[in-house]
Amino acid sequence: MVFESIPRTVRIILLGEPGVGKTSLILSLVTEEFAENVPPKAEEITIPADVTPEQVPTNIIDICLTEQTLEQVAEEIEKAHVICIVFSVDRQETLNRIASYWLPFVRDNCPEDYRKPVILVGNKIDLIDYSVVDNIWDIAEEYPEVDRCIECSAKTLTNVSEMFYNAQKAVLHPVYPIYSIEEQE
Ligand code: GTP
Repeated sequence: MVFESIPRTVRIILLGEPGVGKTSLILSLVTEEFAENVPPKAEEITIPADVTPEQVPTNIIDICLTEQTLEQVAEEIEKAHVICIVFSVDRQETLNRIASYWLPFVRDNCPEDYRKPVILVGNKIDLIDYSVVDNIWDIAEEYPEVDRCIECSAKTLTNVSEMFYNAQKAVLHPVYPIYSIEEQE
């Protein structure tokens, strides 16, 4: 087992099926408003330490499968400290793909003793009036690197900053023993 050390920056990557709202979540966080038209992929964003709750500079990386190869996505996973896998709460197939594709893909690109924390993000809760959190317990049991599941909406800004804050916390205060940033550098 490799012991975790506290990183000087937190690198957050957003993965998930096309159209689930990854770019919208990043832009809603940064601009504090929802834009109907977003680019396919957000530029890498650096949030300065003094505006993050944990006072740690934070980089946020968007992924877009129509603009990137899987090799490039794999490289980004290797560089990240925490992985947010986004699904759309109104599209069950995007949740199904988390266990059938994304979590195995993340594992394949993290060394065994370096399992990075994963946050499951159910976006677009403005479209439904029930919770989908109960659907993720089986996934969390099979993949203990899943730190938590957060339901949010890039459109109404509900839980958007909380989602990124929880991603930061999963790195800085891990509940699951994970990895050494120093060994990654
Ligand atoms: P790719 O670039 O294809 O990977 O998609 P993405 O995951 O980055 O999704 P994107 O941010 O482009 O959003 C896809 C669509 O969902 C857009 O039409 C957004 O306006 C819409 N959308 C994003 N977030 C929300 C949300 O919280 N609620 C609703 N109702 N629509 C949203």
